[in-house]
Amino acid sequence: MAMINSPAELERHRQDILSKRNPGATRISICAGAGCLATGAGKIIAAFGQEVEKQGLQCDTHIKGTGCPGFCERGPVVVIEPDDICYLQVTPNDVPEIVSRTIKEKKLVDRLLYVDPDSGEKAVREADIPFYKNQARNIIGNNIKIDPKCIEDYLALGGYSALAKVLFQMTPEQVVEEIKKSKLRGRGGGGFPTGIKWEAARNAPADVKYVIVNADEGDPGAFMDRAVLEGNPHSILEGLIIGAYAIGSHEGYIYVRQEYPLALENVGIAIKQAVEHGLLGANILGSGFDFNVKVHRGAGAFVCGEETALLLSLEGKPGEPRARPPYPATKGLWGRPTNINNVETWANVPLIVNNGADWFSQFGTEKSKGTKIFSLVGKIKNTGLVEIPMGVTLRDIIYKIGDGIPGGKKFKAVQTGGPAGGCIPAAHLDIAVDFDELTKAGAIMGSGGMIVMDEDTCMVDVARYFLNFLSEESCGKCSPCREGVKRMHQILTNITEGQGKEGDIELLEELALSTRSASLCALGRSAPNPVLSTLRYFRDEYETHIRDKRCPSHSCKELVSYYIDPDRCGACRICPRECTSGAIIGDKNLIHVIDQALCNKCGTCFEICPSRFGAVIRISGEPVPAPIPEEMRIIVRKKNPKREKQDVGNLVTN
Ligand SMILES: Cc1cc2nc3c(=O)[nH]c(=O)nc-3n(C[C@H](O)[C@H](O)[C@H](O)COP(=O)(O)O)c2cc1C
Ligand code: FES
Repeated sequence: MAMINSPAELERHRQDILSKRNPGATRISICAGAGCLATGAGKIIAAFGQEVEKQGLQCDTHIKGTGCPGFCERGPVVVIEPDDICYLQVTPNDVPEIVSRTIKEKKLVDRLLYVDPDSGEKAVREADIPFYKNQARNIIGNNIKIDPKCIEDYLALGGYSALAKVLFQMTPEQVVEEIKKSKLRGRGGGGFPTGIKWEAARNAPADVKYVIVNADEGDPGAFMDRAVLEGNPHSILEGLIIGAYAIGSHEGYIYVRQEYPLALENVGIAIKQAVEHGLLGANILGSGFDFNVKVHRGAGAFVCGEETALLLSLEGKPGEPRARPPYPATKGLWGRPTNINNVETWANVPLIVNNGADWFSQFGTEKSKGTKIFSLVGKIKNTGLVEIPMGVTLRDIIYKIGDGIPGGKKFKAVQTGGPAGGCIPAAHLDIAVDFDELTKAGAIMGSGGMIVMDEDTCMVDVARYFLNFLSEESCGKCSPCREGVKRMHQILTNITEGQGKEGDIELLEELALSTRSASLCALGRSAPNPVLSTLRYFRDEYETHIRDKRCPSHSCKELVSYYIDPDRCGACRICPRECTSGAIIGDKNLIHVIDQALCNKCGTCFEICPSRFGAVIRISGEPVPAPIPEEMRIIVRKKNPKREKQDVGNLVTN
């Protein structure tokens, strides 16, 4: 590929790509995001290749693996253009039928379409599926249209035109002003206004400045940044080069966590292709502006996502946060002015430049403009990535997009903001999701983790779980975080194990407030959120654990017991066979009994006891009934082919 030396050449190249693409051709896009790859997308792509050739359609059919469009729950996802037909949970066995029916005969394969569980109606196009209908997918909407390993796909959609615009039509100051005007706020957690940060780095006097993509994404369960890195790496790169031009930087880094191999691969390919096309490196697009970028692999410490720790880690030192000021904008990497933004923040930049600040700020609320990507996970029917305009309510996200709670269970809380976020109960489901409203409710936006919890979730245990994560990830540099988080975790563990005592709640509150106010970085300052938010909304659960040694959700292992109801046991021998600690005694004609001394409370018997018996009972805070005497445990079975139905109740009691 020859270097592109001007905006006119870029446009000519784009037209050339489009002219070679027959608009009437069939394009089969198969999600090759990490989720769909794990469920067989690789084999589906290969099967399409073979089948299209076998049926002689290779001239007019293009097949590509793309980034994640978000509906991971129903992956592998296949979208067929020009009609935008969306097939879900596709397997390699479905491929011959899709090719012969849909590609050749232009008919639908009904069973692969989305079916609305309430109305039974089928949705043919991606845009008609309720999961997508209620979103505004400015960023991830392009994922399914792009093969991330092919720069032509990005260019065909107008890629790098924003870069051409800033380099040839705007001064760096005008770019900063446009970003300020858009009111874009950082998507990495803090929500700091991006334009103001850029302005500070631009105004900082220095010959050498740096720009950095924070792609560390250490929140458990979060995969928003991964999806953009894997699915549309050029959008991040374009945003970064624009930011570098605005700030006056000629060198940048993309700090990607080591555990994202596909993201690392696709980002590496994107950089190579951008250099080959003259979009990165020396004299970009013939403008005279030079910019180079390197990829740095993060080793997986959560705290290294914190910007000052990330900078030290990049310098090859232990990743520990430092006090601010000075902020990285004035004293960052190797002491030089540095601008760090999150992946999603950078990906918004080309959109703002191309469409204008006013276009961007039409999405969202007064103080939180634009869209935000969330990873919606936990006890929710539609797990996946959702991108919504800021201001949509939690209720709409959970019920309209997520389709509610599976198994007919009740919603209990939603945890937003990653491990140091907060839990919001049902009474607050109507709050509008933006930076300020979530903070008011005791949670945070964070980088976009959203974990839904149902009635079986113990909120004390949730706080314990996150504090455990945070105490392990605390770098230990400052004592309020090192000791405070560890101590809170100890108290929470005691409470969930039935060792809680009077005064624990007050002590937790005191520790939470002092850790919040005295910690060095936002890890320690936000670590109390899981404790304070669960205390605010679920204090009664704490009190019940401490006072009655009872877990109302029957979830804390040390506070629950299992026994078998002799009147319901069918002596089916399933639970003795599956018991992980050999604690269940019983036989074909012998009612089963759990030996409490041996039971490790794993709950397997409770889960596998057939529903027709429902004989395993889980209790908390009450004594286990004494087992029936051995001589009363014998079951006499009738000789009946419909044995299962007859078995129950044939207990000999004399
Ligand atoms: C413990 C901790 C972990 C963080 N992890 C990330 C991360 O993985 N990605 C990210 O973009 N920001 C992370 N941040 C926020 C960064 O410090 C910083 O605010 C952000 O990268 C700035 O970019 P933005 O203005 O675009 O949000 C983390 C902060 C803390 C305290
Ligand atoms: S990974 Fe395929 S839909 Fe998310």
